[in-house]
This record gives sequence, C-alpha cells and structure tokens, in this order.
Amino acid sequence: MTKPNLLSGMQPSAASLHLGNYLGALTQWVAMQDQFNAFYVIVDLHAITVPQDPKLLLENTRRTAAQYLAAGLDPDKSSLFVQSHVPAHAQLAWVLNCITGFGEASRMTQFKDKSQKGGADNSSVGLFTYPILQAADILLYQPTAVPVGEDQRQHLELTRDLAMRFNSRYGETFTIPKAEILKETAKIYDLQVPTAKMSKSAHDPKGLINLMDEPAQITKKIKSAVTDTDGDIRFDRENKPGISNLLGIYSALTGEPVAKIEAGLSGSGYGTLKAEVADAVVAALEPIRTRANELLEDPAELDRLLAKGAASANQTAEKTLKAVYANLGLVTPV
Ligand code: TYM
Repeated sequence: MTKPNLLSGMQPSAASLHLGNYLGALTQWVAMQDQFNAFYVIVDLHAITVPQDPKLLLENTRRTAAQYLAAGLDPDKSSLFVQSHVPAHAQLAWVLNCITGFGEASRMTQFKDKSQKGGADNSSVGLFTYPILQAADILLYQPTAVPVGEDQRQHLELTRDLAMRFNSRYGETFTIPKAEILKETAKIYDLQVPTAKMSKSAHDPKGLINLMDEPAQITKKIKSAVTDTDGDIRFDRENKPGISNLLGIYSALTGEPVAKIEAGLSGSGYGTLKAEVADAVVAALEPIRTRANELLEDPAELDRLLAKGAASANQTAEKTLKAVYANLGLVTPV
C-alpha cells in the first residue's frame, strides 16, 4: 500500500531553531515520518521576504538542515530539501497568485503583524504574497497532512481554499490538505512574555530557548522565566500564563500528563519546578545541539543529502506542475 504524502517546512531565518519550532512541529515530523511519504523543506525563498544578509542566509540554511537531521529526520525515509532547489515552488506560486483575491490576501494576520512592525512602506510585495507561496509549497506535494503550530492555521485555510477553487474551476488537480496541529504543543510561549508566542523575533533573548543554546544558557533562561506571586503550581493559562507555559513544556518533553506533574510538585516552590523543567529541556536538546554541530563540520555531506532530497522533491513537484499547466490550458512544450 502506498503511504499518504505529508509536507511541512521552516524558515532558515536564524542560526538556531527554537523550542516552539521543536515542540510545535519538529517532534511531530519525526513521529510521522514512518506513516507518511514525507517532504520536509527549508523555505529559503520565504526567508527573503524580509531582508537577509546573504552570508548568514547561506549559513543558516545549512544550520537548519543540520538541526532537522539531528532532531531525528531520516533522509532515507523522508525527502529533506531546500525550497529554491525546486523551481516549481515559484512557478506554482505565480499561478496561485492569479486565483487569489486581493482582499483575501489582505486578511492574512501574519502579514498584518509583520508589516505593522516594519511599517507598511517598508514591507515587500513578497511578504504580502508569502501565504500564496506557502500554498504552492504544500499543494505541489499532494499531501493529506501538514503538521504545524497554531500560528500557521490561517495559512492552511487559505491553502485549502485555493486548492478547492482551482479544482472546481479547472478540474481535480490538488489533494485538499489538512493542518495537523497538536493541541498541547500548538503554541509555546515566550519565557519573558508568557502571553506571546515564542518567536525568533523576541524582544528579549531571555524569552527564547534555542536548540543550539549551551545547557548553562538554557538553565539560566528558564530560571529567570516570568511567573507570578501566588506560589501555586497549577495549570491556568489565563491567570497563570508563565507557570502554565512551563508545565506545558515539561509535559510535552516528558510525556507526563500535566495533572500528574501538578500532583507531584504540590507543595514545592517555583524554584523546584524551574529546575526540573530546565533539566528536561537540557536532556532533550543537548544531544541535538551536539549532533548538529558534528554535522556542520562536513557541509559537503549536508549539501549532498539536500541534493538527494531535492531530486526526489523535484520529481513529485514537476508532476503536479505539469498537471496544473495542462488543466489551465497552457500549451505543453514538445
Ligand atoms: P516558521 O519557520 O515560523 O516555524 C516553523 C514551525 O514551527 C511552528 N512554531 C511554533 N509552534 C508552537 N509554538 C511556537 N511558539 C511556535 N513558533 C513556531 C510553526 O507553526 C511552524 O510549524 N510559514 C511557515 C513556513 C512555511 C511552511 C510552508 C510551513 C513555508 N511553507 C509549508 C508548512 C508548510 C513559517 O514561517 O514557519
């Protein structure tokens, strides 16, 4: 029996992925790679929707690949590749641009947030059409599942709308994909502002745990996490966002239900909770950091693995793009 397809991706816009990327997406990716024919992409063309230093972009793309592998993605099971190595992403994005309404694109909240930060005049048209490129990334691979965090839900809805629109106008072409969002880890919060999602654009670096952080840095950041003053170790997202975030992270990393952790720590202070969470985070991330650093010592081997992934991705993507062009009425070249 053939396995269903899966696609997901991350931006190579920082030297390290963070704990939100890891718990919200990467651990799911690793768990799903046996049941699915999976495609995992590093979306460099998305990263350039905001200015990037070329040297850093190059380095961060390889660093992202190393972290994918170190976290457990297996290049013999899944296709790991770089978006710009598969020209069909940009080609399908153009087609989808032509069936997306201006108002529809204007409603994307991530664009509103990001463009507000830099001022609308400083935002590129690429940033505006970003979700349409994301729809192309997905639809080329005919996936049934797209494992992501909560912040990608709206982009997945747009992707589904565009796929249904294309199918109904031009005939069945695309599989309609579904966002796979794990409730418990859908949104990991910033340690300093526990009502905001953990993000690489955090104002205070102490709010962000990086996969490539040294253990001592991780422990320090968790120990200085913002909590509250009532001293009660209890999950209550609304009234106790800091403690709830720590409990959520701890539960996700150990597999222990939150209620069990609460019971085990009842009567203890926040210091104990923080020390245990720090140990759990270090235990999970330290092997990944070590392995990623080893992989980065051999960039030629990383590039070889990415080329292998791109060859497989190109095959699938080309097939979809051909069907799209034919269904649109574009003349097939002889
Ligand atoms: P990116 O690079 O911002 O994030 C990669 C993945 O990490 C998840 N994530 C989080 N999950 C839980 N808590 C958090 N604090 C947190 N922060 C990030 C994201 O939801 C995502 O799953 N637009 C995408 C990249 C993309 C893509 C795609 C994703 C481009 N094409 C096709 C899936 C399919 C993005 O910027 O993710």
